Amino acid sequence: MIYRTQVGIVGAGPAGLVLGHLLHLEGIDSVVLEARDREYVEQRVRAGVLEQNTVNLLDEMGVGERMKREGLVHEGLELRFGGRGHRIDLAGLTGGRSITVYGQQEVVKDLIAARLEAGRELLFEVEDVELEGVDTEAPAVAFTHGGERRRLSCDVVAGCDGFHGVCRDAVPEGALTHHEREYPFGWLGVLAEAEPSSDELIYTHHDRGFALHSMRSPSITRLYLQCPPGEDVGEWPDDRIWEELNTRMELAEGFSLHEGPIIEKGVTPMRSFVAEPMQHGRLFLAGDAVHIVPPTGAKGLNLAVADVRVLSRALARWYDSGDESGLESYSETCLRRVWRTQYFSWWMTSMLHRLPDDRDGFQARLQRAQLDYVCSSESAARTLAENYVGFDSVEAPG
Ligand code: FAD
Ligand code: PHB
Repeated sequence: MIYRTQVGIVGAGPAGLVLGHLLHLEGIDSVVLEARDREYVEQRVRAGVLEQNTVNLLDEMGVGERMKREGLVHEGLELRFGGRGHRIDLAGLTGGRSITVYGQQEVVKDLIAARLEAGRELLFEVEDVELEGVDTEAPAVAFTHGGERRRLSCDVVAGCDGFHGVCRDAVPEGALTHHEREYPFGWLGVLAEAEPSSDELIYTHHDRGFALHSMRSPSITRLYLQCPPGEDVGEWPDDRIWEELNTRMELAEGFSLHEGPIIEKGVTPMRSFVAEPMQHGRLFLAGDAVHIVPPTGAKGLNLAVADVRVLSRALARWYDSGDESGLESYSETCLRRVWRTQYFSWWMTSMLHRLPDDRDGFQARLQRAQLDYVCSSESAARTLAENYVGFDSVEAPG
């Protein structure tokens, strides 16, 4: 079967779904193709922190109603090290900007509901996706759905299929430059049915490694522990997790986490990755399909949303007046924010984790000096705060 749309979108994560809805609001048709089933993408536990920009955009798009009701607005965060906590006043340091804690899977649920209500096509469980003719003016996406092979011809393909997707590999060998760093540690993430132990996020630096306290709701805590890369979750029975978290998050005046049943556990590798440029012919790559940041800066989802905001505007201008300039500068515009965010995410990661090959403790001393500085100098704290809440304009300062 052969059929047609204006924009073929591969992947129904935050990037693909936000793009599809922004295009819908501009009256542009798209088809979203997703490899997994609906339940899987709606249940997948991942990011939790939305920048002010992301919140504003979701709101303007008309999909922010539940986020406004259930999301938790945070005006500060805590850095904890040496048995002491230090608050970074995000709002006070950034002219009133804040972040909102609202699970990625909730954002995805809201966007899927909006897509279905808009009556635009979204196919789950597609298989064997192959891109054709991205170098031509008539690209297509071939795929199998319900046992039937189909060919979707489009004006443009948006590759929003995450790090392990197929779109990046559809670009001919040599046309993209890859930049990559793998970190010698991962994160063990858990979701617990326990009241959060603090109103704010706590980023902890400890001799035994990094720990993070976050949340999803007034009754669900989200916690992370630095662990070896590729760690087997079987090595981490619940008691060990709570003991390690309590040890790393200790305070001189005493501290213990609210504990409860652990309902989800997983290990995430830590990587920095950029493929550039983010465009090849009529294929535009967005989100994790083209860049990955380590999660310490809470930026991946926000960056994915920032990319497709640029792309949707460029496409709207092109369809409206034939003006290609926005599409031509898509990659350059996005990469300014991408590299600023790469720096911030690398910096947060390097400052807060235990570095395994630090034999004489030199790196640990540098980390401690930097943490002391961030917590005692207003300018240093503001640098963290303005990056954490996110830059306002489409382009980050550069
Ligand atoms: P994805 O969410 O990966 O979506 C891609 C979609 O494409 C998926 O649904 C996938 O199934 C589908 N797909 C893949 N291959 C194909 C194919 N061949 N055909 C069709 N569909 C395909 N970011 C933050 O901003 N803040 C945080 O606090 C944060 N914390 C994180 C914590 C963890 C533990 C992890 C793992 C990530 C975190 N991130 C965070 C990162 C964030 O989750 C990602 O950056 C975000 O999911 C990127 O969205 P995306 O739409 O680009 O990609
Ligand atoms: C989360 O709540 O999942 C979360 C919070 C902050 C991060 C990463 C993940 O830096």
